[in-house]
Amino acid sequence: MKNKSRVNNLVAALKERGIDASAESFFQKPVEAFISIVTPCSRPKNLDAMSKSINIPAENYRWIVVFDADVVPDIELPKNVTAFAVKDKESISGNSQRNHAIDFIASNPMGSNEYILFLDDDTIMHPMLWSEVKDSNQDIVCWAQCHFDGAFRLNVGQFKLNHIDSGSFMVKRHTVGNVRWIKSRYDADGVFAEHVSRKTSSIRRVEKFLSVYNHLRDRSREDMIAHVLSLPRVYTLEFDYLNGNNRVDGLIEMCKKYIKNTDKGVEIGCFSGVSSRAISLHCGQLDCVDPWAWVEVAIAEKMFDAMMPFYPNIRKVKMRSIDAAKSYPDSSLDFVYIDADHTYHAVIEDIKAWESKVKPGGYIAGHDAHMYEVLKAVIDTLGSPIDVFNDSSWIFRKK
Ligand SMILES: C[S@@+](CC[C@H](N)C(=O)[O-])C[C@H]1O[C@@H](n2cnc3c(N)ncnc32)[C@H](O)[C@@H]1O
Repeated sequence: MKNKSRVNNLVAALKERGIDASAESFFQKPVEAFISIVTPCSRPKNLDAMSKSINIPAENYRWIVVFDADVVPDIELPKNVTAFAVKDKESISGNSQRNHAIDFIASNPMGSNEYILFLDDDTIMHPMLWSEVKDSNQDIVCWAQCHFDGAFRLNVGQFKLNHIDSGSFMVKRHTVGNVRWIKSRYDADGVFAEHVSRKTSSIRRVEKFLSVYNHLRDRSREDMIAHVLSLPRVYTLEFDYLNGNNRVDGLIEMCKKYIKNTDKGVEIGCFSGVSSRAISLHCGQLDCVDPWAWVEVAIAEKMFDAMMPFYPNIRKVKMRSIDAAKSYPDSSLDFVYIDADHTYHAVIEDIKAWESKVKPGGYIAGHDAHMYEVLKAVIDTLGSPIDVFNDSSWIFRKK
């Protein structure tokens, strides 16, 4: 008897944390989530692309679109949409429109497992989102966010200002309660996220990219350069404003100074492809050589693959440097950029394997001249670089 009440107490304590350990739960089919998608809308032309990306069964979602307008525009709306129009001069960034949708949800609830998910009108729903979250029952479910081209943007579930995006979590209707977006703040998403997260400890973290930032924005070459300038080269290391090594500013300066937009080159050691993006925006064709052979770089390879459709002049060559070099004729390249294995002997091997592939007058370049072994290998084989940059890229002109 005593044991039974202990078990019941434990079950009740777990329930408070969002874990259902009751005997019935073992025999019940998990209740699938119901998602109320909220879109504040000032770009109606994007609704069609957004609609195509929503792969949730019709009975498991509704889509509440609140136009930033006096009246709902006279356009054909996608299926499952409930549309409203809200105009509020005091509101920015769709905040009043989101609040209108939350009020509507509160007065028209859809079962006990209803989540609210904010999907802005400049993005799409990630194709894996539904399959990953449908069996959730925690109060909040959160995930990581990537850029349109697969680049890392936000870690999972950092519920504080400037560390979370409205698209990187969903929250139960009853947890939202009377929390609303502050109309006048650009960072209202961070305030809202912090607020709801303080109301519960029942939070499920999905360690995957399930949301895409600004996927539907039009992009010029200048936008693409601005985007790549905002990315860390190695996403596991800090994006450091003082030390340029993990950024591409220096590399872009090097490309502008020495690379022509018709040049053909090879990058050796590409990881998630941040430097590849930067170089490819300044040349005609870029082959990216990397074996992506270690467990640590498996995610980086996925990120590389995700960005490739946006950089049509990049060709992926999944090989070790030395093996790949054999398939390039001598003097067939305008430049090579070496950023692979940074030990002294490996850098020497790479330089020797690729030097003959570069045309006379072309460039042999690389990263990490601040590393003693790299710099020594460069000087011992080629001599002093003609230039170095603030990301410690070095460059040498072949005679
Ligand atoms: C520092 S990361 C490259 C970072 C990337 N260039 C950037 O700045 O965005 C080094 C990469 O070299 C690759 N690598 C290591 N040994 C290599 C080899 N023998 N041939 C080609 N790539 C190699 C690793 O898989 C890893 O992705």
